[in-house]
Amino acid sequence: MTIDGPAGAGKSTVARALAAKLGFRYLDTGAMYRALTWLASERGAELEDEALLAELGRANPIDFDSEGHTRIGGIDVTEAIRRPEVDRVVSLVARQAEVRLIMRERQRELAALGDSVIEGRDIGSVVVPGAEVKVYLVADEGVRAGRRLAERPGSPAKALAADMRRRDERDAPQMQPAPDAVHIDTTDLSVEQVVERIEALVTEKLPSGR
Ligand code: DC
Repeated sequence: MTIDGPAGAGKSTVARALAAKLGFRYLDTGAMYRALTWLASERGAELEDEALLAELGRANPIDFDSEGHTRIGGIDVTEAIRRPEVDRVVSLVARQAEVRLIMRERQRELAALGDSVIEGRDIGSVVVPGAEVKVYLVADEGVRAGRRLAERPGSPAKALAADMRRRDERDAPQMQPAPDAVHIDTTDLSVEQVVERIEALVTEKLPSGR
């Protein structure tokens, strides 16, 4: 099943909880764009050099270990990719067509490993359009910024909100809700309420509970 939507709509928290409840794998595709961004910055690459970024992406496939840690080029980048430095520039990398081709191919390989909850921006529409359950999460901008702040304690609230707005703009072309996705506005819902709603969709579509 797929969960798409903008930053701060609640995708990661909800996707992780659902994967644990259903016994599905959890795949965070945003972490993949973040990992490539981290590696490129680490190597001093020009982040808008599409050919170079594609080469780096091809040579360094991203993996998730059994504990859900993100690895690129053998390095565990789970924590490094959540830093504001990565937040600020990841959409410059994610909007490159060649990078997206490579990432989508890897995402399909990982999705083929078994039942999964996959979160991102274009998963239900482009990466796995045949998914049985598709959800598109949205929330008010203020609530989304507040959630991001809670995940980045100590960061200045205004700067985080501005970064988020800039990222929304840059991510817009990649934001492609699938026509058959169920939209859920999480502004006034708890994580448990969102998880319950999606679980009901899963039970409806997959009566075996699979
Ligand atoms: O969900 P996130 O904030 O971790 O995503 C990081 C960046 O990657 C974000 O700027 C959007 C981009 N992204 C994308 O373009 N397509 C995806 N499937 C997932 C993320």
